[in-house]
Amino acid sequence: MFAAKKGDTLCVFINGKKVTEDHADPETMLLSFLRENLRLTGTKSGCGGGGCGACTVMVSRYRPTTKTIFHYSANACLLPLCQLHGAAITTVEGIGNSKTRIHPVQERIAKAHGSQCGFCTPGMVMSMYALLRNKPWPTMEDITQALAGNLCRCTGYRPIVDGCRSFCQESSCCQSNGDEKTTETKHEKPRLFDQEEFLPLDPTQDLIFPPELILMAETANQQTLTFCGERSTWVSPASLEELVQLKIRHPTAPLVMGNTNTGPDMKFKGVLHPLIISPSRVPELFEVSLTPRGVWVGAGCSLSEVRCLLEKLLLEFPEEETELFRALIQQLGNLGSQQIRNVASLGGNVVSAYPNSDLNPVLAAGNGRVSVVSGGGRREVPLDQDFFVGFGKTLLEPEEVVVSVFIPFTRKGEFVRALRHAPRKEASFATVTTGMRVCFSEGSRVVQDISIYYGGMGPTTVSATKTCKAIVGRPWDEGTLSQAYNVLLDELVLPPSAPGGKVDFRRSLTLSLLFKFNLEVLQKLKEMNVIPDELPEKLLPLPGDIQPSLQEFQPVSDSQSVHDPVGRPMMHRSAVSHATGEAIYCDDMPRTDGELFLVLVTSSRALAKIINLDVSAAMQLPGVVDVITAKDIPGKKERAMFGYSEELLAENKVSCIGQMVCAVVADSKAHAKRGAAAVKITYEDLPDPIFTIQDAIEKSSFYEPLREIERGDVAGAFSHVDQIYEGGIQIGGQEHFYMETQSMLVVPVGEETEFNVYISTQWPTLTQDAVAETLDIPSNRVTCHVKRMGGAFGGKVIKTSILASITSVAAWKTKRPVRCILERGEDMLITGGRHPVLAKYKVGFLNDGRIIAADFQYYLNAGCAVDESVLVAEKILLHIDSAYSIPNLRGRAAACRTNLPSNGAFRGFGVPQGLLVVENMINDVALVLGRPADQIREANMYTGPSATHYRMEFSPENMLRCWEDCKVRSDYNARRRAVHQFNQHHRWKKRGLSIIPIKYGVAFAESFLNQAAALVHVYKDGSVLVSHGGTEMGQGIHTKMQQVASRELHIPSSKIYISETSTSTVPNTCPSAASFGTDANGMAVKNACETLYQRLKPIREKNPKGSWETWVRAAFFEKISLSATGYHRGPDLYMDWDKMEGQPYAYFVFGVCCSEVELDCLTGDYRTVRTDIVVDIGRSVNPSVDIGQVEGAFMQGLGLYTLEELKFSPSGLLYTRGPSQYKIPAICDVPLRLNVYLLPNSHNPHAIYSSKGIGEPVLFLGSSVFFAIKDAAAAARSESGLIGPFSLDSPATPEKACLACASPFIQKIPASEPGSFKPWALNI
Ligand SMILES: Cc1cc2nc3c(=O)[nH]c(=O)nc-3n(C[C@H](O)[C@H](O)[C@H](O)COP(=O)(O)OP(=O)(O)OC[C@H]3O[C@@H](n4cnc5c(N)ncnc54)[C@H](O)[C@@H]3O)c2cc1C
Ligand code: FES
Ligand code: FES
Repeated sequence: MFAAKKGDTLCVFINGKKVTEDHADPETMLLSFLRENLRLTGTKSGCGGGGCGACTVMVSRYRPTTKTIFHYSANACLLPLCQLHGAAITTVEGIGNSKTRIHPVQERIAKAHGSQCGFCTPGMVMSMYALLRNKPWPTMEDITQALAGNLCRCTGYRPIVDGCRSFCQESSCCQSNGDEKTTETKHEKPRLFDQEEFLPLDPTQDLIFPPELILMAETANQQTLTFCGERSTWVSPASLEELVQLKIRHPTAPLVMGNTNTGPDMKFKGVLHPLIISPSRVPELFEVSLTPRGVWVGAGCSLSEVRCLLEKLLLEFPEEETELFRALIQQLGNLGSQQIRNVASLGGNVVSAYPNSDLNPVLAAGNGRVSVVSGGGRREVPLDQDFFVGFGKTLLEPEEVVVSVFIPFTRKGEFVRALRHAPRKEASFATVTTGMRVCFSEGSRVVQDISIYYGGMGPTTVSATKTCKAIVGRPWDEGTLSQAYNVLLDELVLPPSAPGGKVDFRRSLTLSLLFKFNLEVLQKLKEMNVIPDELPEKLLPLPGDIQPSLQEFQPVSDSQSVHDPVGRPMMHRSAVSHATGEAIYCDDMPRTDGELFLVLVTSSRALAKIINLDVSAAMQLPGVVDVITAKDIPGKKERAMFGYSEELLAENKVSCIGQMVCAVVADSKAHAKRGAAAVKITYEDLPDPIFTIQDAIEKSSFYEPLREIERGDVAGAFSHVDQIYEGGIQIGGQEHFYMETQSMLVVPVGEETEFNVYISTQWPTLTQDAVAETLDIPSNRVTCHVKRMGGAFGGKVIKTSILASITSVAAWKTKRPVRCILERGEDMLITGGRHPVLAKYKVGFLNDGRIIAADFQYYLNAGCAVDESVLVAEKILLHIDSAYSIPNLRGRAAACRTNLPSNGAFRGFGVPQGLLVVENMINDVALVLGRPADQIREANMYTGPSATHYRMEFSPENMLRCWEDCKVRSDYNARRRAVHQFNQHHRWKKRGLSIIPIKYGVAFAESFLNQAAALVHVYKDGSVLVSHGGTEMGQGIHTKMQQVASRELHIPSSKIYISETSTSTVPNTCPSAASFGTDANGMAVKNACETLYQRLKPIREKNPKGSWETWVRAAFFEKISLSATGYHRGPDLYMDWDKMEGQPYAYFVFGVCCSEVELDCLTGDYRTVRTDIVVDIGRSVNPSVDIGQVEGAFMQGLGLYTLEELKFSPSGLLYTRGPSQYKIPAICDVPLRLNVYLLPNSHNPHAIYSSKGIGEPVLFLGSSVFFAIKDAAAAARSESGLIGPFSLDSPATPEKACLACASPFIQKIPASEPGSFKPWALNI
């Protein structure tokens, strides 16, 4: 154990203020220090592992050797506080606020509508701010790189990019706003924001670097710094000698530089390091020295510094010498995110020896070396196949320190390339990554030397030695290479159950990446006149420039008052406070006196009896106050739904991994976490857990009722058709991934068992009811407050109320306030998400494409509790007609009971899965008939007055208008021809195009939910407080309500305030869901405002020239009530499942989307090159908010259908528990052009001001990207002679797309015998 002296005092500047800390704890990260100690809550926590960017701050340091100050963005969640001694930190609070002056970055992101829920916004702001500090005139590439590691689940990124684009030098030319053909008229069209209003960027306003820190760095003492924490000590030596001595004495202590490997291990795997050594003050680790053979780079240099250095050297040395440098630069551009590269060190990357490290294969192929030092002296070690000995292990001794890494020059005739493929193009570890080097003797194509290394093909970086042997000494030609592929296939074998899965894909990638290398080498040989041959197609990277795009909406009529905001774009009312970090989310609320933190203990078994629950060890730990079990619940221990019940805390039996068993409450989050880890549960496994839909079908494990609907005579109709086709598709689930995880604070107040619940929920009343039932108290003792949510998407209703119930038991039992904020991993494990669906269909059609009969069978993986699964199944069946009039139509749906966490509501509520099946069927019909799918869609669309399969009458006119408009706007026919042309000229890249319609029913089929209430107070000074039952989750409902009140009261919206949603102001609310929030609450607010305005009528008539304020004051003196409730009784909707008919929706939203992708058939990588969406949402109340919903939903759909993949282990454990494993769309996934058009001249008598709800419908239109990928894959398959329908399940990840392309490389991979092995992940 390290004999620590008394710890030193840590000194850091935060937002220009000096902060000293006498007890800096090595386990404390900057993020918690900012939020908990300094109460700077603008910096958010979204994942805690460097994967989401919500916690981005700027770090500034002074370098005495060069006398320069440098700034970089970093993830505060991975920055150890102790590492920051002598640094200046800037957080979102430090750059501007609404009280004094907001920074132009904050202003532009807000005004460009780049903030919805706002939870990601401070991180976005800080990434952009750090960029501007280094480069006030960035390029678009700089911007997209800077934001690549910042996730946003709401906006779809386009508006964020647009706000940031305004800083670009080329921004004025980018203002052409997309389609050249419309440029001339663009100025006549209304815009979402006006760039002219933006504040100029004035770098002189930025905080200066604190002179005290410069002085400190200049006069740095050479003493070792030590910081002592509760369980761990941090030592930072000032010399190499001392570092070596420390390592000799403490060989197992990690050297922490960027903490991007050590940090996640400590946080997620619970690794405890009693001693941490920081070499960040050892100068030798940062030295760079050039030699005639290459460059030695200090192991402590950050990856960003390495990249800058190599880029500089490129300019100083001849091209032929810098092949390896360029390959490394290429990898460094794709490795992690900017924030990670800014802190992660070169030595750290090498020594971490990740199986899929991006640098190691390239360094190894390029003959890199490391220089290490230890008590035994210095030695050089080659980075070759012997260096990497296993998962995270190298042959270095534990006490050895890597001082520098040697990166050699190349010579003439030597080529080095780095190629990688990752599940997402940016900010994602690679699936397979490789470094390849080949060396030719002068003027010859005969291979003199070759080395090929792969990452992602085993537990560590591996050398393809046999393959190299098969190539060396032979000419670089087709014969040599085709033999090499065979050797490679035999050499790099992965067992079918290899960790990480994707076995066939990974094996095919080894081949296709070698093939790509081959193409590049041939190109080089040709350029050097070594080979005269005609070359195969040159493979260019996928296009990547995000273009300005169009957002078109109908202007308000000329007669509308300029003061009336309805129908005009209006910034989200909290956008500025989101961008400044002033907006308060649940976990930003200050700690209350005596507050405790709650951490849940969840089941580690999928199906088992609980034999014993031993909390004694947990209770002994420091800070632990209590452990809450089911026995502590004073009231109802379970929640009933649809005849089934779900236990709040499991008492005798668990039914899934992740089921909540008990909860530890302690005086801090860290203590509660340690307590939870110490709870021991003994289980007895029960036989035969069910995980997959297939299993559930075999065992008839379903939730009742199973639903069925039929129109016409399906069975009979199949005998009158030309052709019958039977197919199916599997659709994976989806994690909500709201950026703010489940959050709540329950505070006991008053003497009569009263509770205030501050919570992030879409349905405060449900939480109120649940807490009251659980505590066995009346509802009037529980008040739920919802200020705002950092996203919800359907995921903050049922599970949230259960979590709140458990937290309230803890608050009731301990009589203290209790806070529960789930970590990302817990949230993903516990809460479930969108249902995975397996569907089969049979379709009968005529040769002209008309579908006569269709029969669908859907199975949903509902998980271990019924939740809302039956309702989801019903909604699927109510949408199987989609946009088509199919005379004989049948659908059946079953919610499968499995031993996985229960799935429930998620934006679209089953419709996105249901409709994908329908459209896939149409696609199959098109493939059978060999006709374009859009023709089959047109041939079957509803026309004229129509009725759905449940006999609800409607007019499809606006749907057909959207279809025609989208075809024209997207130039569909010409682009279809262009795609065909492109595909004829490219063997390894294909383009695909698709156009998809939607008809989406709005409102609740459960009629009682279609109601809303509001309460409006007018105060004597004329200010107005509006309360309503809707909750703000980023969708802008409060902004719209403000617009409604402004119109109805005839006052500017600045006089209207909405503080929160509370059950004490508006009781018995309905959930903000089903795209119905504005429809219902808008009418209620309107109703209340009309009442008030009417009451003021006599006053106004008495004093027509008076102002609002004078009328209000006069009304008070005349004893007129200035407070009114409003109520809206929504439509009486119903669905009679016995009669199979009803009126379950108030109206339909229609939309059409056309997307085009370019697909790399060798890797399955794709890019959406353009998307055009036309959507009918009636007369928009707020076009900027509505277009935000359209774009955000589209991107969430794109994620669902092409990217997001949940993986479960064979024992039912969710592997994908954070952004490192689960990829939601990032900025690199935005279509290069994303045009949105709101259909003009559409009216809707069923909703406020003729508008329509828009939260959910467009999500399904993300499937246009899925079908475009399928179209491209079909073109690729035809190259291999494969024609006709083929299976492509959702999500069409690069893996699935690549396998579907059936390239010759794929065909080489021998298929593993199903059933002969246990796959790494389940196909649920
Ligand atoms: C979100 C995220 C995304 C990432 N994406 C990628 C990616 O796409 N590709 C990729 O290749 N990597 C990726 N990484 C990994 C990252 O590059 C490495 O974690 C990083 O390079 C390690 O450096 P560090 O300074 O942070 O190491 P630390 O965490 O500080 O240390 C890591 C280990 O290295 C040892 N060590 C550090 N320096 C030395 C030294 N000089 N001598 C001896 N031992 C030393 C330490 O003892 C410790 O065991 C990602 C990481 C994160 C968190
Ligand atoms: S919270 Fe730090 S990156 Fe996600
Ligand atoms: S606004 Fe980006 S996550 Fe909500």
